Order: sequence, then structure tokens, then C-alpha cells
Amino acid sequence: MIFVSRQEHFNAAHKLYNPHWSEEKNTAVFGPCANKNYHGHNYNLIVTVSGTPDPETGFVIDLKKLSRLIRNEVIEALDHKNLNLDVPFMKDKMASTENLVIEIWNLLEHQIPKITSFGKLHSVKLYETPRNFVEYFGPEHSAL
Ligand code: NI
Repeated sequence: MIFVSRQEHFNAAHKLYNPHWSEEKNTAVFGPCANKNYHGHNYNLIVTVSGTPDPETGFVIDLKKLSRLIRNEVIEALDHKNLNLDVPFMKDKMASTENLVIEIWNLLEHQIPKITSFGKLHSVKLYETPRNFVEYFGPEHSAL
């Protein structure tokens, strides 16, 4: 099994704020991330496809096609957006990196087979900061 990855980048604003909680509890749990006027992150997204090389090209997936797919499906929806206000698939969800990787997975999973017959989506890794990142391997890996 070969793992092929493409990294893309986007900027977005969000706040972590649970509307069912008091101001005090939000501040206690989320600290400055609960700032009511939002704050921004430079997100780095790494999408990994697993498979075997196509004998005709030697590629599991054409990375130009994967890059275009990520840009069309994910980056356009998120770049320079407010995750809490501007992004329909994040509506009524906490704008956490965890919830974002699940949504990004859902945007990409069924598109990958359209651009390769030799691989499938393996993981979505999202860096919110250089030191904080979340990785998702899809729903079949979520049972503990
Ligand atoms: Ni934040």
C-alpha cells in the first residue's frame, strides 16, 4: 500500500463558543478562542490517498488532479471565510479543527474515485497552528 499526500493552505476565522453556555463558562473552557469578535488561523491541510500505482502512469493518483479537487471542493468553501458565519456545512457546529476534518473528509471521499481508479481517501490532516493538528481516518475508524 502506497500513501500519496497533497498539502494545501487556507486562511479562515472562527470562534469557539457554545451558545448554550454562559459567557463565563465559554471563557473558562475556550479562553481567548471564545473571543466574540473572532480570530484567524493559517490552516494547513494534508490530504492522503492510499492505493497501488496505476501500471500505465506509475501514479496512485495524479497530484495535479488531487490539488485541483481539494481547491475546488474545500479551499473555495473555506478560504478567507468565517467558519461560524459563512460556511453552510459548519452551521450549528462548533468550529473546531475536529469538526472541520470530518466535513472535509465528507467533501472529498466520494470525489477521489472520480479522479483515480487506483486509490481511495486515507486521511485528512489539518494543522490549525504549526503545533496543533487533527487527523481523521474516516468513520469506519471512529469506533474505539
Ligand atoms: Ni482558533
